[in-house]
Amino acid sequence: MSARTSPAEAFEKIPTVLYADAPEAAAALAQEVRDLILECRANGRAPVLGLATGSTPVPFYRELIRLHREENLSFADVITFNLDEYYGLNRHHRESYFRFMQEQLFAHIDLQPHNIHLPDGTVPLDEVFNHCAAYEDAIRDAGGIDLQILGIGRTGHIGFNEPGSSRDSITRLIPLDRVTRLDAAADFLGEANVPRFAITMGVGTILQARRLVIMAWGSNKADIAARAIEGPETEAISASFLQSHPHARCLLDRAASTALTRIRLPWLVGRAAWTPAETRRAVLWLALTEHKPVLKLRDGEYNEHGMAELLTRYGKAYHLNIEVFNRQQQTITGWPGGKPHADDTSRPERAAPFPKTVLVLAPEPQDDVLGMGGTMERLVSQGHDVHVCYLTGGDLRITDAEAIRFARVLLETSEQDPLRWKEQIDYASGILEEIDAKGPFGDPPARLRRLKALIRRGEARDAAISLGIKPAHIRFLDLPFYTEGRYRQFHLGAPDIALVGSVLATLRPHQIYLTGDLADPSSVQGIAFMAFKAAWEARLNQPWIEHCRVWLYRGHQSEYTPHEIEMAVPLSPDQLAQKVQSIQKFQSHTLPDLLDGERNRQTARTYDDLGTAEYEAIEAFRCWHR
Ligand code: GLP
Repeated sequence: MSARTSPAEAFEKIPTVLYADAPEAAAALAQEVRDLILECRANGRAPVLGLATGSTPVPFYRELIRLHREENLSFADVITFNLDEYYGLNRHHRESYFRFMQEQLFAHIDLQPHNIHLPDGTVPLDEVFNHCAAYEDAIRDAGGIDLQILGIGRTGHIGFNEPGSSRDSITRLIPLDRVTRLDAAADFLGEANVPRFAITMGVGTILQARRLVIMAWGSNKADIAARAIEGPETEAISASFLQSHPHARCLLDRAASTALTRIRLPWLVGRAAWTPAETRRAVLWLALTEHKPVLKLRDGEYNEHGMAELLTRYGKAYHLNIEVFNRQQQTITGWPGGKPHADDTSRPERAAPFPKTVLVLAPEPQDDVLGMGGTMERLVSQGHDVHVCYLTGGDLRITDAEAIRFARVLLETSEQDPLRWKEQIDYASGILEEIDAKGPFGDPPARLRRLKALIRRGEARDAAISLGIKPAHIRFLDLPFYTEGRYRQFHLGAPDIALVGSVLATLRPHQIYLTGDLADPSSVQGIAFMAFKAAWEARLNQPWIEHCRVWLYRGHQSEYTPHEIEMAVPLSPDQLAQKVQSIQKFQSHTLPDLLDGERNRQTARTYDDLGTAEYEAIEAFRCWHR
């Protein structure tokens, strides 16, 4: 058990362990579970595990399966209790947690079916109370949970204990929060299809476990993880109740740890090394906290925020302010491909060669325009040779209704000349039959998925062309990890890496733009990034790679914080409007909160607050430091 040992963790009320990445954390946790199983067995009793669903535990379950297969770890006597189940879904439903557990873990190890427990989402309403009470009894009869695994939802929930759940709540039926339903919308092909209720173990039930481990991966979880770990214990964030459990622990990967005080404000916990990056972060933080432009910060403000040591290095706030201000100013460029024939010593991108071959990689269609639509347009209009490559089809986000519309158009067109268009008629009616046969939540057959991918492909092509990309420069890779998988079940394989590698080898770009480095490792973006990284690393000995710079953009995720930004591309109101129009080409699937370009306006406002020039909008990039 990790105790609170260093002053760096002084703000952390749940002991927290940071890992380089999720697989490393998952491997350590799986070892702990193995030890626990062996220990219980040695003491002559059955080990009892509390299990969770969602993307977060997937790497951990894969590691348990590996231990079972390769190291003969048996689960024959292990008893499991899952946290929750959607209310209204039967066990065969594609999105039921029972099926999830079956596919992710149970079917691959030697757990005995009678030792597996999940709430039943199909019990009639008037029996729910008794069902929940029986679930509590079953946990107690098994001797209580030895180790409970937890993820955290964006509302800070554990299980489905949404904001408002009390500390001693027990297993019960609960309405789901809007944010939770939005997060599940992709799985259910639309928010409207997401169940409104779930049965969940209560906070009190969870806290009775003898040991608790909560995990979070990816930058999207950073804020909520920090609030649960460092904020007050509150019903608004049920994960915060772990603070008062004597044996609770939190595991984070690097991306999910960035909002912790020890990472965000290290000088407050005596750890600052005052590297240039840390200095920049601290000064920008101070400016935004004090609501003052960087150049107006005074010695007194540095002292008041525990940053006196930094001042002693620079003598005066003035020198420090100027240095950080200039650095921030230098991130701004209207020439993302480099400004030809200009002095590039303090510009984000090199002047030569000009024009550059640019490769924009989009894990899913729309990532590219959301993250860098304005920059794509700039690169094209400045004469660069811009190629866009969509790594996956993105069909899992498309509803059946879209496919039905396309199939009907084809059917009605073909029926005008039925003899000539017989094959088309068969195809279109086949699609309609398949949709009918599978029902709203059946697994979509490959042919239907293909049609949906083509719908998305058309939209992606329109969007890219509207930004000036030549049709011949648009590629669709349809990586097999996606085509053959579904959410949370993606497995990266050698063919994926080879396909990405072949694009790199053919184009030998001078610039690559990509997103996903800080994403949840089970997400499409996270896996696409791994495929790129492996393809890149396999080509390290090729001469072009030395001259290639990789820029990271943000697709669906929240924007980089100002100190992370290494290239800021300003957009005029017209350019932003054009970007928004390109996003709107995606009619079959939209993300309402990202449609209006507000995120880019906010980045520009932050730059303005820091005292640099005022722009309408900014797209932000970071350099991939391999
Ligand atoms: C659901 C589950 C939680 C899980 C959360 C986060 O709400 N009921 O147990 O922690 O999703 O999911 P993910 O791990 O996919 O981010």
